[in-house]
Amino acid sequence: MVTRMLHYLPVEAYTSQDWFDREQRQIFSTTWRYAGLMEDISEPGQYMSVQAGLNSIFIVMGRDRRIRAFHNICRHRGTQLIRAVGKTQKALTCPYHDWTYDLEGNLISVPEEDREFNGIDKSCLGLKPASVDIWKSMLFVHPDPDVGSIMDWFGEIDDQIGPHIPEDLPEYEEGQSSYEIKANWKIVVENYIDVYHLAHLHSGTLQMYDHAKAEYGFVGPHYLFWEPPVAEYAENQSQKLPAPRVIPEDQVGAWVPMLFPGIGIGAAEDGWNIFIIEPLAPDLTRVVNRSRVANASAWEFSKQAMRSSGFWANFGLEGKYKKDDATSEDDPMASGDFTAEDIYACEQQQKSLSSPHYEVGPAAKGEAPVLEHQKIILKWLEE
Ligand code: FES
Ligand SMILES: [Fe+2]
Repeated sequence: MVTRMLHYLPVEAYTSQDWFDREQRQIFSTTWRYAGLMEDISEPGQYMSVQAGLNSIFIVMGRDRRIRAFHNICRHRGTQLIRAVGKTQKALTCPYHDWTYDLEGNLISVPEEDREFNGIDKSCLGLKPASVDIWKSMLFVHPDPDVGSIMDWFGEIDDQIGPHIPEDLPEYEEGQSSYEIKANWKIVVENYIDVYHLAHLHSGTLQMYDHAKAEYGFVGPHYLFWEPPVAEYAENQSQKLPAPRVIPEDQVGAWVPMLFPGIGIGAAEDGWNIFIIEPLAPDLTRVVNRSRVANASAWEFSKQAMRSSGFWANFGLEGKYKKDDATSEDDPMASGDFTAEDIYACEQQQKSLSSPHYEVGPAAKGEAPVLEHQKIILKWLEE
């Protein structure tokens, strides 16, 4: 049988449960996992849980205002202790037999302790710690309690992903979204780092940036990308930004890195966005988006929108396909929304993988990052 390949990875890498499981074990359980934004956990007792590969981990702020992470596993018979996001006063109680832990992870009470147990040493039954750290205003967790600082993982690229200071920018809460894409997570990453498609799939939606002048490449497993605005958008740009500026005037462009594994950032002159890729199944991926904008008043936002509206009205953003060619009212390819175009392309690509006639053609120079990402995946799955 001939193995059908997408350059470096076989088709099964995008379709089989076996590959999915190996990635969960060897990639998503061994790297820092995005959990949320720093403001999600801002008071004692606030907690949230996150799936990091095979590990359910939760973060909680203690009474000392320190943020800690624990494996979300009761030390009695392993029931998941907490779910989702919430706030508690001072303790975390397992729903199964009511064993209770304080916010610092110590086991503080066992119901019917004397009657049911012949002595029990609660001091060695505290929750198992994991690691938590904050980088660029994002909370990250790692299953290993001794993994060290997150700067060991992101330090080398810390000053290369753009001049933004996300800690200083408030979240634009209406900008939160989460959706599922019917494609393997690597298809979603590959689309994000495919420079060749920018001028084509997005010919009507992203032409304010000069894709021919893009600078990009990998540092370790992390992908970096920057491109300048086209001259028409760059000239007198303050009049043209749709929202107030978030970076110094002499630094323009779009910084769109994809950090490993599946942590996308899309930042430009007027905003900072995250695009977190979470594999759910071999052919299903969740994407979580959150945004930060300028620390400016509503009045300044509307002033800037009004000031720039004339430019955008004439600039001619439109869908890839004209309305006449749309298959329906909500045809993503006629939407004029570049994210809808990306989702469409990813899902169409995934569908073709199940055809016995699928065969991949030559890769363009702008697709070099796609091939490089495949090699990185292979390397992580080696051992
Ligand atoms: S499993 Fe948690 S109290 Fe029994
Ligand atoms: Fe795209």
